[in-house]
Amino acid sequence: MDKNNLVDPINLKTIVDFALRKGFVYPGSEIYGGLANTWDFGPKGVLLKENLKQAWKQHFVYQRTDMLELDAGILANQKVWEASGHVSAFADLLLDCKECKSRFRADNVIEDQLEIDVEGWNLEKIDNLISGKKMTCPKCGAKNWTKVRFMSGMFETNRDKINNSVNILTEILGKIKNGEIYLNSEDIKNLQDKLETQEQNRIYLRPETCQAIFVQFKNILNTERARLPFGIAQIGKSFRNEITPKDFIFRVIELEQMEIEYFFDPEKDNWETLFDQLLETMQTFLTQKLGFNEKNFILFEHPSEKRSHYSKKTVDILYNFSFGFKELWGLAYRTDYDLTQHSKFSSQDLSYSDPQTGKKLIPHVIEPSVGLDRLFLATLFEFLEDQETRIVLKLPFNLAPYKLAILPLMKKDGLKEKAEKIYTLLRKKGVKCDFDDTGSIGKRYRRQDENGTPFCVCVDYQTLQDETVTIRNRDTMEQKRVSIDDLEKYGTVGN
Ligand code: GAP
Repeated sequence: MDKNNLVDPINLKTIVDFALRKGFVYPGSEIYGGLANTWDFGPKGVLLKENLKQAWKQHFVYQRTDMLELDAGILANQKVWEASGHVSAFADLLLDCKECKSRFRADNVIEDQLEIDVEGWNLEKIDNLISGKKMTCPKCGAKNWTKVRFMSGMFETNRDKINNSVNILTEILGKIKNGEIYLNSEDIKNLQDKLETQEQNRIYLRPETCQAIFVQFKNILNTERARLPFGIAQIGKSFRNEITPKDFIFRVIELEQMEIEYFFDPEKDNWETLFDQLLETMQTFLTQKLGFNEKNFILFEHPSEKRSHYSKKTVDILYNFSFGFKELWGLAYRTDYDLTQHSKFSSQDLSYSDPQTGKKLIPHVIEPSVGLDRLFLATLFEFLEDQETRIVLKLPFNLAPYKLAILPLMKKDGLKEKAEKIYTLLRKKGVKCDFDDTGSIGKRYRRQDENGTPFCVCVDYQTLQDETVTIRNRDTMEQKRVSIDDLEKYGTVGN
């Protein structure tokens, strides 16, 4: 792709200010001082998010004959995460600055400052590198670091509310306070038992949605009589204890993923062909379904030493955010790794029997996985335009939160009442529309341009005479007169 022809993306601050000001996104728990790196989606954000989900489902599920869906729980048996490898390996290298208390991913700081890739290094070797090269804190410039530690990326909760670690620690502290500093062997055994109970009752919040697809693979085979090749799609929340969540909703700790596991028999279907087809479909989704400019994304194939342990090939679609071309969407050939792992850990037969030959096999899988929050952010970058006289969110019709805005020219002379009637009627018919009678008509047009509303409907004095309204096109700003009866069509399919 030709990167020379790129349009400079709008900067992140403009996007964040816009999203907050317009109520697409709100800071989480704001009235209580917030909770770092949590965000809530406001009324227009919900609609835009839903439209992105619907577009994805249409493209990858409803318009195909080889796709099924799953909606699994966020909580699962902890063995799921032992089998997937998350319990032992889903961790990042944590490094704290002792001066300013800022927290970093050690590998990122080292890569930025020393251009050294520490993948596979042990903690001691990394510590020696940091102290030997006198690395500085990117925030305050100090050279006073803690030792590097691994921090699990998994959030966890516990059903055992009595033997939780806070209670256990409180008990120990209580004993210390009361002068019982010495713990006898019975105390120690008691504490160990409690910690063990807690361990057994630990529940992880899923860090990715896809594992449930593998766990439910056999049930889906049985209830749906599914035949290879076929895919299972799922949209849902995931949780990641990121060390450095950043760039607004680009990297968050509570995210929503849209994932597909596409299962096939590697002896019947060529994985490279399927991989290329899925990659093509992902790009068509961005350009045709969402209307993204193809110049705004590039492909990046992970070198073998950087790939996840389960992957034989990984290609990311990187989007042109203002902070660089960054991963939007991953496509990975996960082989038969996951189903094999879950077969082993559950001692269940998760194989597939070919209905023609009776051959049993563990299917292989290719996985396209995208974060909805990240796609939402890319959508704002793609379509927000700061024109000289106005700001316009030039969303394609299918993504626009509201398709129509009903605006009475005046509040008086029955115009407001007439506009309200039209608004109520259209909402009843399922048209996503907004109503606005505050401020001058020009201001209201600008407000709707920012909302991304493709059409503004002005109810004026002529409406009372002949049941017609003016309809204004967001992009061309042209206005024409149409019958009220035509509005449903404008609101459902555009013009
Ligand atoms: N099942 C594979 C998987 O989860 P991943 O590369 O870790 O792979 C897939 O995540 C996608 O999920 C990414 O391409 C990105 O769009 C999104 N994603 C991952 N971590 C995220 C985070 N902390 N915040 C927002 N989106 C995230």
